[in-house]
Amino acid sequence: MLANVIAIDGPAASGKSTAAKNLAKTLGIVYINTGSMYRAIAWKAAQKGISSKDSEAVEKMLQNTTLAYEQQTPSSPWDICIDGIFPGQKLRSPEIAQAASDVATMPAVRAFTLDIQRNMAKDKLIVMEGRDIGTVVFPNARYKFFLTASPRARAYRRLTQDGETPDGATLDSVAAEIAERDKQDSERTVAPLRQAEDAIYVDSSNCTQEQTLAVLLRYIHDLKK
Ligand code: DC
Repeated sequence: MLANVIAIDGPAASGKSTAAKNLAKTLGIVYINTGSMYRAIAWKAAQKGISSKDSEAVEKMLQNTTLAYEQQTPSSPWDICIDGIFPGQKLRSPEIAQAASDVATMPAVRAFTLDIQRNMAKDKLIVMEGRDIGTVVFPNARYKFFLTASPRARAYRRLTQDGETPDGATLDSVAAEIAERDKQDSERTVAPLRQAEDAIYVDSSNCTQEQTLAVLLRYIHDLKK
């Protein structure tokens, strides 16, 4: 049976968040950004003085952690909530991005997030974005996309995103940071970043947001919300 999910995977700064958000808005369905789960876990660890590389301490921390997507008000978008707190923009720093990539390599973290992610598509159609949605979380997703862009286009996009790069960052320094994170995300043993065999490959290097959305919509039909 197909899962009630449109999966969008791809490397860092490939434009998948924007594409997933635009797609969900156009279809009138919920958008879930799974990267925020790893970012929220990394953020909580940092608050507690736990290193993002200390898998034992992070695993212990998860025993007292609740993670969910919730709406702050009935009209707000769904956002990550950890232990009753919405960290919001605090998750969008380069330090948290790197720490999120660290904790995302840990088997205990992946088991924890997998359960939560699978539960979300039980009763409604959703757009879920991440690195392993079409390969591990929902191999039976209704639609699967692998969205990418050239290293230069991705570095440029990241550089122009508020708060996502350190002061003084250049196109070259951002490209190097993204390449390092992609390497860690692709080479980890559990749920590495890779394209599912049956995913539709979309290169958005030369596309505007509207053009990328149009490409995705071309493949989507017969949706049962
Ligand atoms: O998409 P993002 O940059 O917010 O993701 C932050 C980190 O989380 C990224 O380095 C890889 C990891 N991640 C993952 O391992 N699996 C996912 N489904 C989503 C993100």
